[in-house]
Amino acid sequence: MTNSKFLPLTRRHMLAASAASAAVVNAPHAALAQRSRNEAAPPPQMKVKMKVNGKPHEVELDTRTTLLDTLREHLQLTGTKKGCDHGQCGACTVMVNGTRVNSCLSLAVMHEGDEVTTIEGLGTPDDLHPMQEAFVKHDGYQCGYCTPGQICSAVATLEEIRKGIPSHVTGDLTGSIAPTNMEMRERMSGNICRCGAYSNIADAMSEVAEG
Ligand code: FES
Ligand code: FES
Repeated sequence: MTNSKFLPLTRRHMLAASAASAAVVNAPHAALAQRSRNEAAPPPQMKVKMKVNGKPHEVELDTRTTLLDTLREHLQLTGTKKGCDHGQCGACTVMVNGTRVNSCLSLAVMHEGDEVTTIEGLGTPDDLHPMQEAFVKHDGYQCGYCTPGQICSAVATLEEIRKGIPSHVTGDLTGSIAPTNMEMRERMSGNICRCGAYSNIADAMSEVAEG
């Protein structure tokens, strides 16, 4: 028998009441989220001036654009390759003010006023850079996908050795550094070649190092 002082409350009523109160609580948050999605500001843009392969460029970019995407997508310099896009393969190596960098890990806006050299700036098919000639002579590639990054890295590597910048395998830190096979392999270890052309790359570098 039902107690007349209270309304009969079934399990169905309880569930309906809970759902209704949850909807009321969540409604303002859902509306706010939708409004902020609708009103999302466009990504911030910035103008960047840099010299690439000796030519001045000014590009307006989403500030999150990497140097790699700037070169490939905005300046159409597609010689620089995108491999992992995570700093692990070296395919995107270019030189910035003479120092090699993984361009996939570097935002373009960090390079205001910098001088960038890509594979296109090292040589042309009619006028190869000595390192490009040596790679051809020693078969330092197979598919060629890693090759632009390998060559930029190799050029910068020999410059590092010439300047006396030590690596983990440099034994004598007091004198000049010899461009040994071990030195070059250690310094090039961030440039991965899926085709396994490492020995031939080291031979090509040795030839250029010996002048
Ligand atoms: Fe930059 Fe792999 S694409 S390190
Ligand atoms: Fe094919 Fe290096 S030549 S990945």
